[in-house]
Amino acid sequence: MPIYHTLGEVPRKRHIAFRKPDGGLYSEQLVGHEGFSGTSALLYHVHPPTTVKSVRRLRETPYVAAEDVTLKHRHWRTAQARAGGSPTLDRVPLLFNPDIAMLYAEPDEQDAHFYRNAQGDEVVYVAKGAGVLETQFGDLPYRGGDYVVIHRGILHRWRMDLSVPHKLLVMESRGHVRWPKRYRNQFGQLIEGAPYSERDIRRPTELRTYDEMGDHRILVKQYDGLNEYVLDHHPLDVVGWDGYFYPWAFSIHDFEPIVGRVHQPPPVHQTFEGDGFVICSFCPRPYDFDPQAVPAPYNHSNVDSDEVIYYASEEFMSRKGIEFGSITHHPDGIPHGPHPGRAEASIGQKETKELAVMMDSFRPLKVAQAAAAFEDPGYHRSWIEAQHERVASPATITD
Ligand SMILES: [Fe+2]
Repeated sequence: MPIYHTLGEVPRKRHIAFRKPDGGLYSEQLVGHEGFSGTSALLYHVHPPTTVKSVRRLRETPYVAAEDVTLKHRHWRTAQARAGGSPTLDRVPLLFNPDIAMLYAEPDEQDAHFYRNAQGDEVVYVAKGAGVLETQFGDLPYRGGDYVVIHRGILHRWRMDLSVPHKLLVMESRGHVRWPKRYRNQFGQLIEGAPYSERDIRRPTELRTYDEMGDHRILVKQYDGLNEYVLDHHPLDVVGWDGYFYPWAFSIHDFEPIVGRVHQPPPVHQTFEGDGFVICSFCPRPYDFDPQAVPAPYNHSNVDSDEVIYYASEEFMSRKGIEFGSITHHPDGIPHGPHPGRAEASIGQKETKELAVMMDSFRPLKVAQAAAAFEDPGYHRSWIEAQHERVASPATITD
C-alpha cells in the first residue's frame, strides 16, 4: 500500500538499538511482500516473535471441485448457506482457481485463536457486520460495506460486534492485492480521476501492546493446510511500527462511480487488482443520460474472463430470482446479458440504488463442491423463462 504509516514508538533509524525501559532490546521484525524488495513494515516487539513452544499440522484445507463441470451460468443463494461458527475457520468455499478463491461465512462465534494466512492476501467484503480487526499493527475498525484488506502474513483476530449479524465474502488471492496501476501516478499517488483517494483508505488507528506471558494459539494457513503454533507470549506485543505494509479498509460507499452519456463498461467500476483477477464495485449512481441510452448492459461474451457477482443490496430483490446474498457466475465462453425485456424497461430510468461486488478472474474458475448445497439449479434457464414471461419490472444494469 503506497501510503507510509506509523503508530507507536520507533527508533530514530532502522536497525539500531532500541531499548525497553528495563534496558533490554526490543525485537525488530520486517514483515512484507516479496522478501526484502516489496512493500514492508518494521515492527518492534516486546518479545521475540519466534519463541514457539509447539507446532502441529491441524488439517488440510484444499478446495474440492464439484463433479458437475457443465459450462453454464450458475447462481447460489448464500442466504441458504450453512451459517455460524468462526470467521476464519468456517468459511464455505464457492469458486476457485490457482489465482483466487471466493468463500462465504456468516460467523457468530468469536475466535479465541489468532490467525495468519501465509499463502494469500485476503479481501474480506463485509456485506453485513461491524467490529474491530485486532492486528499487530493496531486496531482496524470495520463496518458494513467495507473491504477489509489483510495482506498475507498479517497476524490478526476478528473481534466481532455480535449484536450485528455478519455476512462476509472472502476473496483469497495468491498474488498481491493492490490499487489498479492506472489509478496511480509514477510515485504511487492516486491520481485525479481515480474513483477514490488516499483519504478513503482507513488504516489501523490504535496500537494496543500486551506484555503478557502465557500460551497463545496462532493458526497459520500455508501450503493448503492449517498449522497450529503455540507462542509463549501474547502476540500483540508491538510497541511501534512503520512502513507501507499493514491491513487497511475501504468502504464501498466511498467509491465514486463514473457515469457516461451511454453505457460505461465494467472496468470503470474497478476497485482493486490482483494477479489474475480484478474486483469491481457497482454502486448507486445516475443512469446514462442520453435520452436514447439503454442503461441495461448489452449482451456480452467476456472471453478470457469468468465473471462473479455478489449482490449486496435489497435493490435486487425486484429482479427475477436474485436476492440479497445471491452470487452469480457467468463463465468464459458463453454469452450473458440482461433478462429479455430488461433492456427496453431500462430506457429512461434515471438512477439505480444497486450495490454489488464483482470479481472477474482471467483463468477459469472451478465450482467448489460445498457450494452445491445452496445452488439454484435452474438459473441457466432464467433468460428463456423471462423471455416467456416478459415480466415488466424495474431493470438492473449490473454487468
Ligand atoms: Fe457481465
